[in-house]
Order: sequence, then C-alpha cells, then structure tokens
Amino acid sequence: MPGKRTNSLILILAGALVIGAAILITWAVLRADRPAAVSGIVESVGVAQIGGPFALVDHTGKARTEADFRGKYMLVFFGFTHCPDVCPTGLATVAQALEEVGPLADRIVPAFVSVDPERDTPELLGGYVTAFSPRFVGLTGTPEQVAQAAKAYRVIYKKIDVRAPDAYNMMHSALFYLMGPDGKFVTHFGSGTSASQMATGLKKHVAG
Ligand code: NI
Repeated sequence: MPGKRTNSLILILAGALVIGAAILITWAVLRADRPAAVSGIVESVGVAQIGGPFALVDHTGKARTEADFRGKYMLVFFGFTHCPDVCPTGLATVAQALEEVGPLADRIVPAFVSVDPERDTPELLGGYVTAFSPRFVGLTGTPEQVAQAAKAYRVIYKKIDVRAPDAYNMMHSALFYLMGPDGKFVTHFGSGTSASQMATGLKKHVAG
C-alpha cells in the first residue's frame, strides 16, 4: 500500500529531524558552556561529596585541618604562586568580592590551597597571598597532604611544560568552593566569575 509507505517515510523523516535538532541544541549548549566545563564535575559527583577532611600547613607554618575552620564559611580554591594568570586573577577577584560584601566578609575565610607543594613553601605562599589581602589563608603541605586535599575537593592538577626541575607550569581546576560553617558544600563559582558576581553570590549564601 503506497499510502502506508509514504506515512512511514514521513515518520522516519520527522524522526530524523527531531534527532538532528536535538544534536544541534546539545552542541550549542556545550559550546556556550565551554569556559565553565569544569563545573560539570560538581554536578556529576553531587554537591554532598565536595570537601571533607584535610591536613595541611598554613602560610605561618601552623598545621591546620578542616575542623579549624568550623563556625566560619570557607571560600576554598586551589592554585600555585608561579601561576601566570588564572591564580592571580582569582586571588584579586576574591579579595575584591570580600571588600564588596562589607562586614559579611568577617564570616568568610578565603583559603588558597597550593597544588605545587614542591615550590610553594609556607613562607613563599604567605608573601604571595597576603599581598592580595591580609584575609587570605595560604595552605600547602607535603605532596601527599596536598593530593589528599585536592581529592576531597575533586580538584585535578598536573605538572606541565617542564623545562627544568624547578621550572614548570601546573594545570589545575580553578573553581571556588563555598563551604558552610558546618564544613559542608554550599555553592561554587566558576573560574570566570567577576568580583561583583561573586559578591552577589556570597551575599545570597552567607548568613549574616
Ligand atoms: Ni593557576
């Protein structure tokens, strides 16, 4: 029956169109979202799994664990002092966002965790982070301690562009994690977040 055949053809064509449109939309969404692609990690592992116990050394040389920060919000992000652009931008963004939230900033500890413990001694880290704001806590440790903290926050990092034993770059995730006074994950900000966007987010999530 030719009529039935035509109907089937129309159905197949319509199906192909729907699938094609779906592929195009997915592609467009993925493309638009590329700079924030790392944030997909947060969604896929689930918010409850971000954060957890860590044992590190702060920029004054004092041993610190996540328990030391209970009762305060923590704005945690990972990087390294030799970072050419992403980390200095991140530190400047956090410093400015904390200025913008006013007295609320006293409830938030901004913590910069080194992914380069080989070069980032507490002394080096201290000089670096406090130049952006005296509010910053720099955290480093043994390579094992840093690896454990990074694992807790689902942060990936890798030594790249190695030119000499002490001349290399670090690839690393660059999200900012806001942790609550109970140590639980509250929200995150992508690496391209501006200071005013971050200030808005902090005002929304941090209880005064
Ligand atoms: Ni960096």
